Amino acid sequence: MKVQITDTPITDTPEQTNQGPELSTAEGRSVFIKSYGCQMNVYDAERMEDVLAPFGFAKTDNAAEADLIILNTCHIREKADDKVFSDVGRYVKGSKKTPLIAVGGCMGQAMGRKVMQRAPNVNIVFGPQTYHRLPEFIARSGWERGFRKRVLDTDFPSLEKFDSLPKQGLRGPSAFVTIQEGCDKFCTYCVVPYTRGVELSRPVKHVLDEIKHLAENGAKEVCLLGQNVNAYHGIGESGEEWNLARLVRAVAKIDGIELIRFTTSHPSELDNELINLFAEEPKLMPYFHLPVQSGSDRILVEMNRTHTADDYLNAIDLLRMARPDIAISGDFIVGFPGETDEDFEATMELVREVNYSSAYSFMYSPRPNTPAAEMKNQVPQDVKKERLARLQELLTQQQGDFNKSFVGKTLSVLVESTGREPGQIRGRTPHNIAVNMMGNERLIGQQIRVNITHATASSLLGEIELEEVA
Ligand code: SAH
Ligand code: SF4
Ligand code: F3S
Repeated sequence: MKVQITDTPITDTPEQTNQGPELSTAEGRSVFIKSYGCQMNVYDAERMEDVLAPFGFAKTDNAAEADLIILNTCHIREKADDKVFSDVGRYVKGSKKTPLIAVGGCMGQAMGRKVMQRAPNVNIVFGPQTYHRLPEFIARSGWERGFRKRVLDTDFPSLEKFDSLPKQGLRGPSAFVTIQEGCDKFCTYCVVPYTRGVELSRPVKHVLDEIKHLAENGAKEVCLLGQNVNAYHGIGESGEEWNLARLVRAVAKIDGIELIRFTTSHPSELDNELINLFAEEPKLMPYFHLPVQSGSDRILVEMNRTHTADDYLNAIDLLRMARPDIAISGDFIVGFPGETDEDFEATMELVREVNYSSAYSFMYSPRPNTPAAEMKNQVPQDVKKERLARLQELLTQQQGDFNKSFVGKTLSVLVESTGREPGQIRGRTPHNIAVNMMGNERLIGQQIRVNITHATASSLLGEIELEEVA
């Protein structure tokens, strides 16, 4: 194990150097966690809470009161990094205590020591693969004895983390479960292979046991997570590899699980078995997030995406043949080095052809140590901005049209939480659109029938069918 204690302690005494890695289990401690980035970080943050709970740390939503503040960071675009440094300053300033500040997640992994150098207030830095060791890091910092030694751990202990995590606590009727970590696709713009490591699938039994435990505690929906979730290849109990389709079928057999989703998929990993599952498995929801990044084959080659625009469009056709109402979502990067007006128009054309239900689109952000950042023909910022605005206008219009198509229809909705306005409850439709409606909180965790009355580009408004209210 490579825990390093840096040489720049804020407070230090010789005896502290010998402190063992055991954290006591005192009551009344609190932890505030802020997550940036993707859903895998959301899952990791929940698991950090699970790791810390036996040591007396209760979750708080109020950073000012917290004894421990964890920033669970993202490194995907430059903006994400900058935000973390300004947030560290803000939390330190706003705190009523002298909290221990920890930076975890992908930026912690990628920047490690640099985070320590740039932010002297940060006490602990770790990556996405070592958060199961948080209690040890806290102990090593000397915090319980009033010290602040600085601890850095950016080790890659493969799947050790999952073996040592406690059972997952349930936060609501819908749960994330990471089934696969890391990525070895090495798209030329992307930091994920460097921050999360090589692609690894969790063994089938681990995944199924975790979901059974969640279901026993009330989970109704599960969303299986991975950077390339459809490349899942976990080992089954008799030693053979399972693909995602087989795993989804097994999850569907777990008592209590009513709805299944997964994200994010890669177009080059899509097989017919998975596509056909959308026709065969009623618990699998009709929503598919399939990033394409660009509609230009030339740019896709430069990005090292390993698929063409036509491969992608064919995959969408097959998905729609299997499940005609399937909602398609995607990710786009505009202004990749060398992207011409013509390349960009090819992206717009692809978007028109697919007709998305939702999408995420970004200006290309050069990332340290990635091949694309070194490419000579970087696109000027104002061109990127203008292209992004045009793309987003089209995507927003498609999303609005998609949402409007449900007005007047009755949909099945799993109620997940209270809603935006007082008296409202909130859930998602099978096509993954947020819907708010007036209703009693006791409906949280139930699937109800909802008449859709209004739609915007981002959400729906509905009324509960009368017999459910009684
Ligand atoms: N594994 C997934 C998504 C990973 S990151 C996939 O391959 O599709 C999420 C999204 O962030 C990507 O789909 C991409 O659209 C965007 N992204 C990644 N690196 C980026 C960069 N350097 N600049 C801008 N957007 C980026
Ligand atoms: Fe990044 Fe590409 Fe891997 Fe997705 S597939 S995580 S974009 S390297
Ligand atoms: Fe960001 Fe890491 Fe996710 S870089 S998008 S938090 S995998």
